This record gives sequence, C-alpha cells and structure tokens, in this order.
Amino acid sequence: MIDHFGTIKVLKNFLPLLGTLKKNTIVIKFGGAAMTDITLIHDIIEDIVLLHNLGLKLIIVHGGGPMINFWLNKINIKPMFENGLRVTDEKTLEVVEMVLCGKINGELVNLLNINNVQAIGLSGKDAGFIIANSIDNSPSNLIGKIISIDPTLINLLINNNYLPVVAPIASNLRGQSYNINADIVAGEIACAMNAHQLIILTDTPGILLKASDPTTLLSSLDIIKVKTLIHQNVITGGMLPKVNCCLKAISQGTSSTHIIDGRVPHSLLLSLLTDYTIGSTIRSC
Ligand SMILES: Nc1ncnc2c1ncn2[C@@H]1O[C@H](COP(=O)(O)OP(=O)(O)OP(=O)(O)O)[C@@H](O)[C@H]1O
Ligand SMILES: [Mg+2]
Repeated sequence: MIDHFGTIKVLKNFLPLLGTLKKNTIVIKFGGAAMTDITLIHDIIEDIVLLHNLGLKLIIVHGGGPMINFWLNKINIKPMFENGLRVTDEKTLEVVEMVLCGKINGELVNLLNINNVQAIGLSGKDAGFIIANSIDNSPSNLIGKIISIDPTLINLLINNNYLPVVAPIASNLRGQSYNINADIVAGEIACAMNAHQLIILTDTPGILLKASDPTTLLSSLDIIKVKTLIHQNVITGGMLPKVNCCLKAISQGTSSTHIIDGRVPHSLLLSLLTDYTIGSTIRSC
C-alpha cells in the first residue's frame, strides 16, 4: 500500500534542502574509471538528469582514462603515468584530445540531450575559458597546468539552464593544446565558480587505507590526514590529483568535497540528497 502521509513527510523534509542546493553551484567530476560499462554510464546520466531537473546548477567535468588507454594501445603507444598524471607527448595528446573531445564528450552530451537536458559540450579551449601551459614549462611536455579560468562562459550557460559538460583539454595563448588531469580541471572550476560542492565519481568506494579492501574506507578526512596518507604512500596514482584538487577547492572556499563510488547505483543522489554516508569527505579541519 502506498504511504501517502509518508510521501508528504519526505517532501516536507526534502524541500528546505532542495532550496539550499538550488542556490549553489555543484561541480561533478565523472571519472573515466566509472565509465567502463554502458549501464553504469546510463545510471549516472539518469541521476544527473534528475538533479538538473530539480533545478540544481551543475557543471560536469569528465575523464576518460580507460578509453584513452584502449586507443593508445591500438596504435602501440604504451600508456604511462607519473604521480597519477598521464605522460603526454605530441602523439599521445592527439589521441587524448580525439577521445575526450571527439568521442566521450559528444556521447555524454548526446545522452543528456536525449533526456531533454540542454547539455553543451566544451573543452577549456572554447572561448579560451581555460588557459593552460606545460606543467614544467617544457615545450615537449604536454601535460597541462591551469594558468587561469574565466568563469564568464560557464556562468552564462548555467544561468540559462544549460548543463556544461567539460572535456579537460585547454590551450595556451598561442593555441598549443594541453592534456590536463580531469580532477584538476574539476577542482579549479570549483574554485573559479565559487562552487559549494565538488563531487568526484570514480571506481573505488572512496579513499581506502588498504587498496582493494572496502572495509578500510576512510569516510571523513581532514587536510592533515590527507597529507599524512600521501606521505605514507597510501594515497597514490589516480587518487593523488583527486585529493590535491579537493584540498585546493576547500582552501578556496568550496564547502565540501567528496570522492564517491560511481559504480554504486544512485551514489550521486545519495551523496547530494540524503544524509546517507557514502565515499570519503575531505574537510578543512
Ligand atoms: N588510497 C587509495 N584509495 C582508493 N583508491 C586509490 C588509493 N590510492 C590510489 N588509488 C587509485 O586511484 C584510482 C582512481 O583514479 P583513476 O585516475 O584511475 O580513476 P578516475 O580519475 O576516476 O578516472 P579518469 O582518470 O579516467 O578520469 C583507483 O582505481 C585506485 O587504483
Ligand atoms: Mg584519474
């Protein structure tokens, strides 16, 4: 039997939270690691559609690591990483840009649009909204670092009910493209937009003390704990740019940052709309 009074109670409790959420910007990083399965992608898209239709101001930044590796392997380029960042020379960049901007971005936008969301795909190159440079200022190293972000374009989109979907590629003032880790792009956009929340969807339950052991999930960490875990080599590889961008976003005013498991059905909704504890929350103290 339907509990009508229960439904009304849920709505009454939910509306004040919704009112607060609608006032703020939320950056969601959709990790490539959480995109390996089409059902998974559809589930996450469904949650994003619901949140957008509830009136939340969202910005999606996506990765694409596994798909980039797949295409690199096809042309006999061995994917390599240093400190969680993809080693990027000219040939690698060509593949990275094709996969991120040409394939993944278009597919995500398409999936959102067929669900009646007005999604706009863009990279940092569009209207030059992200200016980047080589991470070590060397002309052959095409791993990018962000020099500046102009929030005008993204503001224009979200204030007109469009949903920006950002591929993590940007260029310098001379048009040289750079591959920027998507976590870093998400974190920097959160800072530039004064976002209230940064949510990172990936393929682990959150930050684990022991790799592959979900019972060692750390559900809440402060800056000191994160730095200790980096020092102890507990946080490594692809988790490094995540925690670093969370720390930066927090230091610049983002109220909460979360690393959650994109493979768990409705993890986004659970994180944003309920007080269910999911993933790892990084807080300032
Ligand atoms: N302490 C840790 N706890 C959990 N995961 C960790 C930890 N240290 C390193 N990792 C690794 O970080 C990975 C997630 O980062 P990864 O870059 O692979 O995914 P992603 O960022 O979601 O995808 P993409 O880079 O394609 O956007 C995990 O799969 C895990 O192997
Ligand atoms: Mg990654």
